[in-house]
Amino acid sequence: MTIDGGREIGDDFVDDGSSFIGIVPTFITPGNVTRFHLYERLEPSDRNGAYRFRCLLKDTSSIPESTLIRMLMSWECLYIHKQEMGNYEQYLKDNLHIILTNDNIDMEKRSVLFTDMCSDVIQGVMKSNFGFPKLGKEALASVKDLVLKAIGFISSIDSLKGLATLIGHDYETHTHSIKVGWLMAIFVKANPGLFAVSGRKELEKLAVEATVMGFLHDIGKAKVPSRVLNKNGRLNNLEYVAVQAHTAYSVSLLFDLDFPKYVMEGILYHHENEDGSGYPCRLKHDEIPLFAKICHIADVFDALTSERPYKPSKTPYEALTIMTGKNPNLEILQQMEKEVWERGATPVSVVVRNEKNPDIRRLKHESRLNKEAEKRVEARMKLRDNGMAHCFDAELLKQFVLTLNRSESFDFSTII
Ligand SMILES: [Fe+2]
Ligand SMILES: [Fe+2]
Repeated sequence: MTIDGGREIGDDFVDDGSSFIGIVPTFITPGNVTRFHLYERLEPSDRNGAYRFRCLLKDTSSIPESTLIRMLMSWECLYIHKQEMGNYEQYLKDNLHIILTNDNIDMEKRSVLFTDMCSDVIQGVMKSNFGFPKLGKEALASVKDLVLKAIGFISSIDSLKGLATLIGHDYETHTHSIKVGWLMAIFVKANPGLFAVSGRKELEKLAVEATVMGFLHDIGKAKVPSRVLNKNGRLNNLEYVAVQAHTAYSVSLLFDLDFPKYVMEGILYHHENEDGSGYPCRLKHDEIPLFAKICHIADVFDALTSERPYKPSKTPYEALTIMTGKNPNLEILQQMEKEVWERGATPVSVVVRNEKNPDIRRLKHESRLNKEAEKRVEARMKLRDNGMAHCFDAELLKQFVLTLNRSESFDFSTII
């Protein structure tokens, strides 16, 4: 391949660095060094500050594989010319399973590789217009393909060490979705007794479905105005309704894509609370499907441990303390929730169904409607900060804590 100045890929280059991209040497398996050229960067020795990029391993056929592996492990960083990045990215996709399960590669580096690849795929899905079913199917196939290659890695307890390094970062819908899917994969694999599966294969299939579900549970947020999703502060009545609608949007976007019913229900009901105070249907206890309960736990754990513009992130320990804690104001707040719902003065029923009711119009006129809604939102926020045990299935939450506690990255022994 000839590039600028008549040079060939494979020659040595003098470059300011902009034509080369750094990669992790241990991601390369010896049999694949022919798919692209690897360079090392030598520090500038001349006055214009340009680097010299020296092409390595020009002829690998004569080097024994073990020597090649040792050589690859001895470099801190290697470089690839940007014109060959397409080949390198395809190589990563093709070999993702091998790379992720290679224990010689640093766990944090494997985790970053996994999340980078997921980010591309999930952001692609979120951007793809589901009005075109074909495009939706292709995007979904890429998600499933990625999960199938990664499931061995993300469903292992060991990978919690990698996941732990990603906790505490900014909240973004796609990174949140990756972590929820990852947590669900680990939870399913670690608790086979909770599911009606007859063997390892069936459990792995379930873990794959759970991961895909976690990846897509908030896909409906693509239909919620971004200024509402990213609002720095308390949501008003209509904004709150718009955000709550994301569960229904998620299901409607995925409707014709042949998902199993339990995955669709898990997505629809992932904001239902155990005591019936959640949405969209105020289901409680056994009415809430198992996958929805698990997704809800993983979802809240990640939301609390991620940083938002309006609040700092909690540590995993603080998050689980809140999640397992009984709320001191629970009775008062439950009573308030009940009154709000019984009077029909909830955001959804009033705004959508009762617009023509003269009493409601009067209420609106007096701005009481908004006040009611604000009270409700504020109550929820208070609940979140003081104890959320009423939101979760206690036994499942205990299993979740026990599962995370199996990793040396966490110590939740005092919570259990
Ligand atoms: Fe959600
Ligand atoms: Fe979520």
